[in-house]
Order: sequence, then structure tokens, then C-alpha cells
Amino acid sequence: MPLDITPFQARRTRLLQTMQAAGGGVAIIATAPERIRNRDAHYSYRFDSYFYYLTGFREPEAVLVLVAGEAPRSLLFCRSKDIEREIWDGYRHGPEAARETFGFDEAHPIAELDEQLTTLFANQPAVFHSVGYDDAWDARVTGALNRVRAMARSGAHAPSLIRDVRSLVDEMRLIKDEAELAIMRRAADISGGAHRRAMRATRPGAWEYEIEAELLHEFRRHGSQAPAYSSIVAGGANACVLHYVENDALLKDGDLLLIDAGCELDGYASDITRTFPVNGRFSGPQKAAYELVLAAQAAAMAVTRAGAGWNDPHDAATRVLAQGFIDLGLLEGSLDGVLESGSYRQFYMHRTGHWLGLDVHDAGEYKLAGEWRPLVAGNVLTIEPGCYIRPADGVPEAFWNIGIRIEDDALVTADGCELITGSAPKSVADIEALMREA
Ligand code: GLY
Ligand code: MN
Ligand code: MN
Repeated sequence: MPLDITPFQARRTRLLQTMQAAGGGVAIIATAPERIRNRDAHYSYRFDSYFYYLTGFREPEAVLVLVAGEAPRSLLFCRSKDIEREIWDGYRHGPEAARETFGFDEAHPIAELDEQLTTLFANQPAVFHSVGYDDAWDARVTGALNRVRAMARSGAHAPSLIRDVRSLVDEMRLIKDEAELAIMRRAADISGGAHRRAMRATRPGAWEYEIEAELLHEFRRHGSQAPAYSSIVAGGANACVLHYVENDALLKDGDLLLIDAGCELDGYASDITRTFPVNGRFSGPQKAAYELVLAAQAAAMAVTRAGAGWNDPHDAATRVLAQGFIDLGLLEGSLDGVLESGSYRQFYMHRTGHWLGLDVHDAGEYKLAGEWRPLVAGNVLTIEPGCYIRPADGVPEAFWNIGIRIEDDALVTADGCELITGSAPKSVADIEALMREA
């Protein structure tokens, strides 16, 4: 399907307007470098999220330059055509085709970047780039600034302001446009299907990596380019390791399995966690803890809407969990006491969500001027409470090694939120029914 360049052009136009409103200048945004894994083998290539958001261009060795002003311009620098290299590594657009296909005003060979930056920077008030993100790029920008300074006697003046372009783009990335939401919904559906497939494949005696393979198979067969992050497939006590990624243990009868896995589709992440019994039936204590986490998630979802503070879902989930920990005999004291002392953190030590988008932990500030920022329609975030019960004195043994997280991806709307990951079952009845039918 040909790429619809309209959303990318619209984002460049908006960024140019924002730059102009901030006093004007030139922005330079580079894509990610290719990285060597060992000797001649590279890590699979992933473009830079900021660069991709503004261009749709997936080749390495590419830089976007935006020039704000009366006649705003967007320029791409990219690899030249090279028949010999294309035989080995595949198609390159080259500047001419890239300009046409992706709708830039100009495109040039990447080899000309340094020379052209000198001209592009001359007499501009400011340079916007990712300050401090990459030493080599900082040096490259400084080099171009110094070349302009060296031209002072011919009348050129160098930009006197260096600004971080990311803070401008982050504000844009926080509110998803229709094109982004369409991709994110599709990514969420693929990942939901992968979780269903994993539930069907799980049985005592299977290995965690076998279940991981089911997830990856489902991602890839629907066109996802990669997992959005390393999949967590954690049976039994492994679920109490928050970033468990070994995925190499045997799944045991009577244990739970926690899977945190989501695909990346056309640059966009999905992020889903489901927890279910290896043998298809929750035990009494597992069910009690599971229903508690589910109730915490429902409480968080109920307060997720435009105008709510970023932290409201976390506060709502934490309150339900803290009361539940008391009711289950895991903690002593009053609800206020447990919340005030933070003793609930023994079993719930992470936050309830994060922004989601091109990056799984997406760009964007969580506070504005020291206050949790208000949610607005178009934000996408995760809602992912959990409980992780390690063996300890005073903790009833029936709950030892139970690790549970339930994570969905939510789009904030004017009067609530829409879960886009609903295709992965999560009620006890739905999970048990699906596993019974498998
Ligand atoms: N999978 C990463 C996270 O849930 O934040
Ligand atoms: Mn998450
Ligand atoms: Mn996750």
C-alpha cells in the first residue's frame, strides 16, 4: 500500500509554525544510526521515533532539516542511489525519489549535509536539535555553528540560541492524530490475538520460550516488524521479577503465567499484560489476588478521562490495591495508614501507567510547572496495576510467589477512555473458558 504522506507533512507544517512562533530558526533531526551486534552482523534497524514521526522515511543515514520563516521549507538529506550497494543491501530511494515520495521541498545527498548546514545556519536566530542526546551530533552542530562564526567578516551571523527540538515535538506526540490511532488500534488487535494464542498454547510442561514463540509468530504473521520491547513470559515466581526476560523456565501445574508482550507496527507500540493459570483454572488465592488487580484496573479506568490529572488513575488503583492487601491479610493497619506509610509498596512497587506511542514508554512530560498534567482527548496511556508477592515473614504462604499484572492501552476521550486492547480476555470466566476450549 502506498504511504499516505499527508499526516507527516501536516506534522512538519505544525512544527514549523511552532518554531516560528518561538522566534524562528532551523531544526535538524537525524534518524538513528545502524548498530553493529558483532563483526559484520547488525542489530535489526529501527529508525529514530522523532525523525519517523515527521518524515515516514525508514532508511538509515538520513536527516531532516526544517527552516522556519516566511517561506518555511523542509529538506531531507539521505543516501544517494548506489547500484552496487543496492545489490547487497536493498533499495535506496535516493534524494530525487525521496523528495517526490515523501513530499519534501528539497532533498540532497547526505554527504552534502555538513557543507549545507553552514549555509542553512547562517543568519538564523536559533538552532533546534536534540541537545545532549548524542555527542557526535552535538559536535556536528557545534562544528557548523563555528563555520558560520568564522564567516563573521563576510557579514554572516551565527544563531545565538540552541534549543531542544524534542520538547516541541513531545507536545505534538502526546496527542495522537487519526493516522496514528488507526495504526495503534491495529497493533493492539494483533497483540490481543497473540495473547489469546499464548493462552491457548499454555499447558503444564511447556517452556516459557515456547509460549514466547507463539507470541512472536502471531506478531509477525500479521505484518508487525518487531516486538515493541522484550517480551516477558514469566511462570510462577518469575512473575515477581518485574523485568524478567530470560523466558527459559518450565511452566508448572498450579502456577500462574504472566505475559507482558506487545508488537510494534509501522513504528507504533502496543503494550499488553495478561496473567492466567498454566493449567487453565485459577486456585482460590490466585483468583482472590487476580480479582483484586482487576478491580484496581477498573478503578483506574473509571477516572481516566480528559481533565483528570495524570496521577489520578495511579491513586485510584493504589487505593483499591492497598485495601485489598489488608483484606487478604497481606498487610496490617488502616487504609490511610497503609497509604501514608507506603507499606503497600512491598507488593505494588511500580506506577500504574505511562504514555504509549512510537516508543513503548512514549515521549512527553508527566508534570507541567510542578503539577501532574491534565489528561486531554487523544492521549494514549497504559493502565497496568499489579501485585507481586514474594515469600516473607507475615505473608500467608498461600500467596507466596503470586505475581499478577493486568495491562491495557487506553485512548483518553472527552468523557472517559476507550480501551484499544480489549481483544485479549481478562475476566476469570473468559480466560478459563478460552483455555478450556483450547
Ligand atoms: N512492557 C513495558 C511496560 O509495561 O512498561
Ligand atoms: Mn507498560
Ligand atoms: Mn507492558
